[in-house]
Amino acid sequence: MEKRKLLTSLVVLILLLPYATATLSRSKPKKHVVLVHGGCHGAWSWYKIVALMRYSGYNVTAIDLGASGINPKQALEIPRYSDYLSPLMEFMASLSEHEKVVLVGHNFGGFAISKAMESFPEKIYVAVYVTALMPGPTLNASTVYTKAGSVVITQLDNHVTYDNGPTYPPATVILGPKHLVTNVYQLSPNKDMEKSKLLTSLVVLILLLPYVNATLSGPKAKKQFVLVHRACHGAWSWYKIVALMQSSGHNVTAIDLGASGNNPKQVLEVRHLSDYFSPLMKFMASLPAHEKVVLVGHEIGGFGISKAMETFPEKILVAVFVTALMPGPTLNASTVYTKFTGVLAALDNHVTFDDGPKNPPTTFSYGPKYLATNIYQLSSDHDLKLATKLVRPVFIFRAEDVSKEIVVSSKRFGSVKRAFIVAAEDKLIKKEFQKWMIEKNRPDEVEMIQGSDHMTMMSKPLQLFANLLSIANKYS
Ligand SMILES: *[C@@H]1O[C@H](CO)[C@@H](O)[C@H](O)[C@H]1NC(C)=O
Ligand SMILES: *[C@@H]1O[C@H](CO)[C@@H](O)[C@H](O)[C@H]1NC(C)=O
Ligand SMILES: *[C@@H]1O[C@H](CO)[C@@H](O)[C@H](O)[C@H]1NC(C)=O
Ligand SMILES: *[C@@H]1O[C@H](CO)[C@@H](O)[C@H](O)[C@H]1NC(C)=O
Ligand SMILES: *[C@@H]1O[C@H](CO)[C@@H](O)[C@H](O)[C@H]1NC(C)=O
Repeated sequence: MEKRKLLTSLVVLILLLPYATATLSRSKPKKHVVLVHGGCHGAWSWYKIVALMRYSGYNVTAIDLGASGINPKQALEIPRYSDYLSPLMEFMASLSEHEKVVLVGHNFGGFAISKAMESFPEKIYVAVYVTALMPGPTLNASTVYTKAGSVVITQLDNHVTYDNGPTYPPATVILGPKHLVTNVYQLSPNKDMEKSKLLTSLVVLILLLPYVNATLSGPKAKKQFVLVHRACHGAWSWYKIVALMQSSGHNVTAIDLGASGNNPKQVLEVRHLSDYFSPLMKFMASLPAHEKVVLVGHEIGGFGISKAMETFPEKILVAVFVTALMPGPTLNASTVYTKFTGVLAALDNHVTFDDGPKNPPTTFSYGPKYLATNIYQLSSDHDLKLATKLVRPVFIFRAEDVSKEIVVSSKRFGSVKRAFIVAAEDKLIKKEFQKWMIEKNRPDEVEMIQGSDHMTMMSKPLQLFANLLSIANKYS
């Protein structure tokens, strides 16, 4: 199991690192990025890239070439290629002598940036061709153009006009909706095709803002996060969050509770919540007196962080319940627990009776079918497979044990700032159950993650990461 875990973490780190270092490192001076659209498109086609770059601190300029986007010229007013290119060339000429940009061309825009490279080589750090036409000293543009143009123009419902008369070559081309759907946008979300580009951009900006705000805005104090997993899971379940947090410079510790993940105890050695939560409590006790952590609990991990809040309130900056069991001074843990355990016996889940058939069942473990349909239903196959390999059985803690072990007071537990993150599509702790806990026992803050199954850290890692950072930053 350890090998597999290491391998998975490595793969994930390798996948995430370029992204994380590209976006989250804060010290590098930000370059000016200039974006040049493809044929029949405009600056608008870059709206997502512009939003992401701008909010990560880059100076970004998306050009409208002639008769494109909101450029005021009409197609027949720009018969020469140089007219089409002139907005880019004027922009490049306007840059002061010592100024350099990163120049990006898409599709037909590849010719435009090639022309700019030829005219202003000293003003360009690097030119980036994004699936773009790329001529070169030994591959002339007309060869590339002929190859590209003959493919595109005559397809499906594309439309050419013969403004110079039928015996002349066609003058303009308009891409038809069918061609766009099947050949240009076939893997893009539907809404990118719609006319209401402004609305879309606004929605995207609104969606992206809190995320980029939380992750990419100026230097914030480094935080320490402590993550507490759910039943049958382990520290491994947070692997995406751990990678994101580490790459963005935070200190993060994912705990393995008793008989979970890599913890060496076996399930029958962990019959009480006190044994189960002891790795967390030991970790909290080991923190120096002046250190405050952001404590995050998932599902039954919510009981763990509640216990820690009651015991070490002064060491916690804020406690975050991620679709977690959340007791309170006026909502006792056994009430919450009883409501929760009702849902375990289903499909291929498995219970054992190690104390004999006349005694209550002792351990519980998940079957792959139940994981697939009720826990990981919106997570990737990869994460589901990982879970089927790494889940371990958990002891079925008695309600009496829960009421004895998890007792929280207004004075201690209640003194800690508390946030709840609702997983909207959770089938295990349903939204109604989450809202019930929230209403009975109001936290300081409630966030909702749409499209999240029970495994928010698997199905919606970026949103969870952004929420955790923004919550942490609020209570510094
Ligand atoms: C971005 O670059 C342009 C061109 O150099 C410059 O005029 C503008 O002031 C810059 N904007 C910011 C916000 O740095
Ligand atoms: C471009 O290259 C092709 C193939 O090498 C050649 O046949 C053609 O004459 C060239 N065209 C121009 C305009 O240089
Ligand atoms: C972004 O952060 C600033 C300062 O922290 C805050 O005033 C602003 O409301 C935040 N915007 C969003 C959309 O979260
Ligand atoms: C992270 O926090 C732990 C606990 O306070 C500490 O032992 C460790 O040195 C910290 N790591 C870093 C890289 O700051
Ligand atoms: C928990 O609360 C319920 C409902 O308020 C009550 O019936 C029960 O006796 C309480 N249990 C404990 C252990 O306090």
